[in-house]
Amino acid sequence: KLEKIYVWLAVGILLAFIVALIYASVILAVRVPTDVGQIVPNPGEALASATMRTPPFDQPGVQEVAPGKYKVVVLGQAWMFNPPSIELPLGADVTFYGTSLDIDHGFFIPNTDVNMMLLPGQVSILRHKFDKAGVYRIICHEYCGTLHHLMTGTITVK
Ligand code: CUA
Repeated sequence: KLEKIYVWLAVGILLAFIVALIYASVILAVRVPTDVGQIVPNPGEALASATMRTPPFDQPGVQEVAPGKYKVVVLGQAWMFNPPSIELPLGADVTFYGTSLDIDHGFFIPNTDVNMMLLPGQVSILRHKFDKAGVYRIICHEYCGTLHHLMTGTITVK
């Protein structure tokens, strides 16, 4: 009798997990902005070239999308960021769009909440407002091979 209760309990917990998973994926899907294309290579095409022709990654760099609001498109590859240096005005409200042309990289700005992964075939999105002037360092904090420690960039806010 007791065994039956345990079995049903186990099944119940499993079902709860599945429901939570479906719920989470639906919510996440809803949060993906519509202006970001998916990176889908054509048959026989390398992921890197598919990435470089897929908006917004066909134009890496800074773009002002509304007064004070910026879109910063970043590509990671062994062992550099494209663009390697970024300039922003003080108070810039930035949405970063990031991906990788080869392997997993990190995109981390110390002393801020900017911390994301740059993954091949995936789009990472993160918003941050730069309220303090200065030179910020961008660091790859995901081990990516021999010259990982040299993979850095800068954001100058003034
Ligand atoms: Cu790129 Cu570590």
